Amino acid sequence: TSFSVNAYLTAHMRTVPDWPAPGVQFRDITPLLQNPQVFRVMIDAFVHRYMAPELRPDVVAGLDARGFILGAVVAYELNIGFVPIRKKGKLPFTTVEETYELEYGSATVELHTDAVKPGDRVLLIDDLIATGGTMMAGKKLLEKLGATVVEGAAIVDLPELGGSDKLRASGLSLFTLVDFA
Ligand code: PRP
Ligand code: ADE
Repeated sequence: TSFSVNAYLTAHMRTVPDWPAPGVQFRDITPLLQNPQVFRVMIDAFVHRYMAPELRPDVVAGLDARGFILGAVVAYELNIGFVPIRKKGKLPFTTVEETYELEYGSATVELHTDAVKPGDRVLLIDDLIATGGTMMAGKKLLEKLGATVVEGAAIVDLPELGGSDKLRASGLSLFTLVDFA
């Protein structure tokens, strides 16, 4: 039987009940980073996909904070640049910003105005898609600067929260490695 990346990564995820709030099943990816074999399998799954000429991006954009860990390594392996999309108040140069809704309240993310150029093909990476608000905000920032998001990528999708459906309905192609009901 063939090796399943999905099953291998799923087996190494950690679920923490009632964190950060009662009722939330927190899907913790830190064990995937800690184990060097698992880390390599996971990164190689992304690198293999985005090496293909038709999907090869010009730049990787990573979402604060766990999207930085994955995105930087994937960009390095693809020999392309990395740009961070940060929580408000962290970037020093001129920025564009986008505010989005969370389960409780709202958040704002920023991107340097010179991070991408009009026409750039961007791979947008985060660790996990829940309501999809974070990735949607990242897509809007990149599009404000005239770039095209070729795909959104994440390790984990939580499909029951509806985020991946919402992102796909907005026209974004998505690639995820693990689904959790
Ligand atoms: C988590 C996760 C994603 C986001 C997904 O980050 O790393 O970025 O939530 O949720 P969404 O699809 O509902 O937007 P969080 O906002 O907890 O911030 P952190 O990276 O600073 O921990
Ligand atoms: N971000 C939003 N919801 C989450 C969850 N259930 N597990 C991990 N990260 C999350």
